[in-house]
Amino acid sequence: MPDRTSAQPVAQPGPALGTLFVERNLDLVGKLYQRSVYPSAFDVASGKRLPSPLVVDLDPTTVCDLACPECISSQVLHHGQIGKDRIVRLAYELAESDVRAVILIGGGEPLLHRAIGEIIEVLHGAGIQLGLVTNGTQIHRHIDQLSTMLSWVRVSVDAGSAGTFQSFRPSRGKRSAFPQVIDNMRLLASRKQGRLGYSFLLMQRFDEAGKVTASNYNEVYQAGVLAREIGCDYFEVKAMLDEDHYTVNQSAEDIELVETQVARLRELQDDSFHILHSSNWQAVRRGSDPVQPKDYRTCAVTELRTTITPTGVFVCPYHRGNPKGRIGDISQTTFAEMWSAADTTVIDPSEDCRFVCARHASNQEIALLPERPAPDDLDDDFDPFI
Ligand SMILES: C[S@@+](CC[C@H](N)C(=O)[O-])C[C@H]1O[C@@H](n2cnc3c(N)ncnc32)[C@H](O)[C@@H]1O
Ligand code: SF4
Repeated sequence: MPDRTSAQPVAQPGPALGTLFVERNLDLVGKLYQRSVYPSAFDVASGKRLPSPLVVDLDPTTVCDLACPECISSQVLHHGQIGKDRIVRLAYELAESDVRAVILIGGGEPLLHRAIGEIIEVLHGAGIQLGLVTNGTQIHRHIDQLSTMLSWVRVSVDAGSAGTFQSFRPSRGKRSAFPQVIDNMRLLASRKQGRLGYSFLLMQRFDEAGKVTASNYNEVYQAGVLAREIGCDYFEVKAMLDEDHYTVNQSAEDIELVETQVARLRELQDDSFHILHSSNWQAVRRGSDPVQPKDYRTCAVTELRTTITPTGVFVCPYHRGNPKGRIGDISQTTFAEMWSAADTTVIDPSEDCRFVCARHASNQEIALLPERPAPDDLDDDFDPFI
């Protein structure tokens, strides 16, 4: 989504920021130098294929119980799910592969898949680390697995009140799902072993004259305070992308409105609560060009990560649903068969990825690896979510 979908968050200055979480887990380039990652990155840089990717983004279903008007995945929603038997077998296939981490996400709400508990158990049992991006409405139904088997859970809330939540994350009925989501986050916070994040996507709507008709910008502080009170480990501010994944530049006043609230939230940071900015919001607040030119014709990261969905396997979340980025299908073949037949070079970033990509710096770094002497000492593994 980054994140869309997996956009890389950036830690903000403030007290107690020298922690492992902030310093290392957000550094995508640094993560390439982990002992069990570097050899794969080097192989990819040398033009080799990998026996399997190291990270999988997995959309179990395209079904969702919310109807967010700004959803980046609106084109791929409600196109079915991976069948129950097939997804459980897929979990066992991933367990046998070299995949080290799986992110349960969508297009769709991952916790609505009826086999989600079993999938989590199989993957966790195989030592695969798990992350989850969720709208939060179903957390209570899977609390045992989520509290003990997930490395991190990031809940997309985008509001600090029930009214704003219902405007930007409407449920099908009239009642806002906000109280349920917040109760669920409290429940998870009280039992969790991994990290819990409160994600806030900045959204605005305009009329034809360009006047703002709806916005969640003024709830950033309220939401951040709530996140801390719930017991979240971090609060992440993200910039909305348009349907082609470009950032949308903002007026100086709107940037100031957000930044003032973020500055106040930074004062609440301590060892257990961090304020993060997505790389997209960093780009927007700096007024950067939404076009990020790339001079490479293949993306190395597509060999290290892949995106499995009910409608096919895609090179990355940005190209989810894009026929050009579709590299296979696990409905008729095993994961290993799909991967060995896949052509991960189908996307040309110089033409197809002109938006700000969270993996751009990783690609630039990987391209340099063959020219450099191998590092003397690699880092011990600290985070497989590369
Ligand atoms: C599409 S949602 C699917 C997973 C889950 N149903 C949820 O709501 O988090 C995955 C991620 O996409 C992000 N997202 C949705 N629409 C977006 C947009 N227009 N721009 C940027 N990110 C977006 C959400 O914030 C969320 O973190
Ligand atoms: S460079 Fe293109 S293909 Fe590679 S991760 Fe970024 S958006 Fe996806």
